[in-house]
Formats: sequence, C-alpha cells, structure tokens
Amino acid sequence: MSNPALSADGLSMSFGGHNVVRDMSLNVGTGELVGLIGPNGAGKTTMFNLLAGTLRPKAGVIRLAGEDVTDRSQQGRCGSGLSRSFQIPKPFARMTVLENVMTSAQGQVGENVLSVLIRPGAVAAQERANVARARALIDFVSLSHLEDRPASVLSGGQRKLLELARVLMTEPKVILLDEPAAGVNPALLDLIIDRIADINSRGISILLIEHNMDMIARLCSRVVVMAAGRLLAEGAPQEVTRRPEVVDVYLDGMPS
Ligand SMILES: Nc1ncnc2c1ncn2[C@@H]1O[C@H](COP(=O)(O)OP(=O)(O)OP(=O)(O)O)[C@@H](O)[C@H]1O
Ligand SMILES: [Mg+2]
Repeated sequence: MSNPALSADGLSMSFGGHNVVRDMSLNVGTGELVGLIGPNGAGKTTMFNLLAGTLRPKAGVIRLAGEDVTDRSQQGRCGSGLSRSFQIPKPFARMTVLENVMTSAQGQVGENVLSVLIRPGAVAAQERANVARARALIDFVSLSHLEDRPASVLSGGQRKLLELARVLMTEPKVILLDEPAAGVNPALLDLIIDRIADINSRGISILLIEHNMDMIARLCSRVVVMAAGRLLAEGAPQEVTRRPEVVDVYLDGMPS
C-alpha cells in the first residue's frame, strides 16, 4: 500500500502546561478529502499549526508522502506540497487581489538578485506565467471582477475565496482548510463547496476543518473527531456524528 499523502502519529502540544493536543494521530490518503471536526477549543487549529510547521510538537511525527517532515520549517513543507488556509484570513489589505495571490507563487526565479541581472528574460517569462496562473485561480474562485481592487474591499466570504486561490497558487499536493465556510453567506457557500470538491477531484488531498455538518457530509467520506485535544472518533460522517460520545461533546459545548 502506498504511503498516505499526510500523516500524524502521536502528536502532542501544550501551552503553559495546558495540554491542547494529546497523542493525536490521523492520516489523509492520496486524493482523499477528510473532515476534522470537534467542538470549539478541541485543538483542531493547533493540529493544523503542527501539521503545517507553524508550531513544533512536544512529541510525535509528521510525514508527507511517507517522509518525516517533523523538523522541517513551514516553508520547507510548503515546498514539498503542503499548504494551509487560515481560520481568519489576513490578506495584505492595501495590495490588490491579484497581488495577494501572487505572493504565494513558489520558487520565483526573480527572488535571486543575480538571476535578475544575468537572466532577465527568464525572470520576465516566469513573472508572466505566474500572473496568468494567479488570474486563472482568481477566476476559479469567481473573484475576477475584483482582481485589481485592494483586498480591504472584500467581504468575509470573498476573503475565504481569496484564501483558497492563495493556497492553490503554491501548487500544493495536500491542503489544510481551516473553516473555509465560516461566516460565509449562503449565496457563496455552495460556490465554496463546489470549488473544494473540484480541487479534490484534481487529485489534491484535503484535510478540512468545518463546523458546518451539512458541508462535511456533502464533501467528506471520512471524518476525524477531536475533543479536548484527543482523537474521539473516526468514520463516515453520518454514522460518527450519531455516536453518543460525539453527540455529548457537542452538547457540552453548547451554551445552556
Ligand atoms: N497560542 C496559544 N497559546 C495559548 N493557548 C492556545 C494557543 N492556541 C490555542 N490555544 C488554546 O488551545 C485550545 C485549542 O485551541 P484551537 O484553536 O486549536 O481549537 P479549535 O478546535 O480550532 O477551536 P475552534 O473550533 O473554536 O476554532 C484552546 O483552549 C485555546 O485557547
Ligand atoms: Mg480553530
């Protein structure tokens, strides 16, 4: 059997003595779309920070296509095809939508000052290719009409779409999406669901954090449930979300 696209084995993390992620393991098969669900504060975003390399785990191993990347930086993991979106997107407000997406272009020839001097033609050609790619991605997320507007004019839902284009610009093999539909109005929700399904159908593996259970059920054949930093359950969404222990943690998290 081939290695999963992404796997975490026994991850732990604590903040100020508070164990936020405890012995968490999960994997995402190549081309799979897995949901990561659980009540507020369960440790889902912290898992993303560990997987993406924003945080270093206290214990555990992270593998990308079987290769141990636990000691690799966020940029190093991104270069190996792992890219993540943020729960609260923070685009560069004064940069345009196009410029924001362009910031995620990988391995640009022009980043090396010498190559700008020695191979100006190659730098210009790559810049043109990157602009064309960024435009195609902006079109894919239906933001073409706002391409030259500053990101500050975007609504919450449009920022989530920009975030999706920015993530895709890195040419990822695996993406981590942190609540891509949170705060999105219903008119944009279907578009976001459709685009995520489309991305996955192109073979990109996805780990998706989302509180919207309808969206999870529509997109994922398998979900991993976290509660209080631990793995609570795993299986098909319709079945797992009916289990008493899963119902309990969600009810406990509800205001009384
Ligand atoms: N940098 C940090 N410093 C201290 N505590 C943190 C930090 N980041 C997260 N936490 C704590 O870790 C716990 C898990 O937070 P996390 O953001 O991972 O949860 P989550 O499952 O993503 O929740 P939500 O669904 O609300 O986004 C919470 O108690 C949170 O307060
Ligand atoms: Mg979170």
